[in-house]
Amino acid sequence: MGDRTVITTQVAIMGAGPAGLMLSHLLAQAGIDSTVVEIRSREAISNTIRAGILEAGSVNLLVDSGVDNVLRNGHEHEGTEFRVNGVSHRIDFKGLVGQSVWLYPQNDVFDDLAARREADGGDVRYSCSNVDTADLTGQPKVFFTDEDGKDFELRAQILVGADGSRSHCRSAIPESERRWYFNEYPFAWFGILTEAPRSSPELIYANSEHGFALISQRTDTVQRMYFQCDPGTNPDEWTDEQIWEQLRLRVNGNGFELKEGPVTSKVVLPFRSFVAEPMRYGNLFLAGDAAHTVPPTGAKGLNLALHDVRLLFEGLDSFFKSGSSAILDAYSERALDRVWKAQNFSYWMTTLLHTVPQEENHAFFRARQLGELRSLLDSEHGRAYIAECYTGWQTK
Ligand code: PHB
Repeated sequence: MGDRTVITTQVAIMGAGPAGLMLSHLLAQAGIDSTVVEIRSREAISNTIRAGILEAGSVNLLVDSGVDNVLRNGHEHEGTEFRVNGVSHRIDFKGLVGQSVWLYPQNDVFDDLAARREADGGDVRYSCSNVDTADLTGQPKVFFTDEDGKDFELRAQILVGADGSRSHCRSAIPESERRWYFNEYPFAWFGILTEAPRSSPELIYANSEHGFALISQRTDTVQRMYFQCDPGTNPDEWTDEQIWEQLRLRVNGNGFELKEGPVTSKVVLPFRSFVAEPMRYGNLFLAGDAAHTVPPTGAKGLNLALHDVRLLFEGLDSFFKSGSSAILDAYSERALDRVWKAQNFSYWMTTLLHTVPQEENHAFFRARQLGELRSLLDSEHGRAYIAECYTGWQTK
């Protein structure tokens, strides 16, 4: 161990995912210094396939801060399709609640923010190791070794834990000062990328007796699709033909057929709901997946993270400019208001659309589920409720 170089900044940010980089970018625009410490390499983050739907509020946050590739390379979706036993029902977001969403993959959000931070001379350190934190209730410190093997001590007034679902920062909060909520699900998603044209202009959320499937998109020639599977599934054991058979069973019918192609990526994504409360301890603030994870059915993960960042930025901006901590002090409560709405929506969409493993009351569960789907989809109020939650709630 060599000598430690001490660096000081106003805000230390753990994690250079979209949440950490977005916060660092907003702070820089407000003239507030930050240093971002990340354990993964920039390439590893950029290459991790993540979800793809941005609420209008997330798009506005990016565009208003000058990161606007989404407007050129993303696709605005004014609605989505629910397919129940092969019968399609459109949820007209724009017509029902006046909002739309954008299909723009999280990797692209990351690439845009990373490029912008680099162009603006932001202090973002990827590929760090030996990361540790101290003095969270006083002047927070982050210890780390950079990619060249040099040891640093980063001192800040505020530490932000935007370090993802395996957050180090979250675990640094004493057990007596926090509460963790969990829910696990008896299924997972099998996710693929396929070289094929788009099958439909909008996303398709399909419910069938064979299980759930989601037909999403990436480009004119690459598509993203998922189907419900057992959490123990090994994706390498599945052939393309077996995958397409499952997707066909769940989505095709009544004249509609998926456009098929070679499968170029296969992954099994476990489902989990998690919340860490409060999202603050002393001068440590948690944001994004570090504080909460949702099952992907409601497309809320990245949107919640960006919403946290928006609220946290408001608090930090006011704190550093006027010395008032009132907005910062309200951060956890304000953020959790939306977190629990999104937890509910993600859980509810999941139980609405997935089939439970065979069990004694399977027949009752399935018939009740179809009744719930009919009562929602036959009702303008029901469709509007889905549209309101999916496109994102107004900020309080
Ligand atoms: C995706 O495109 O990866 C995607 C879209 C909607 C979801 C989840 C994932 O709900």
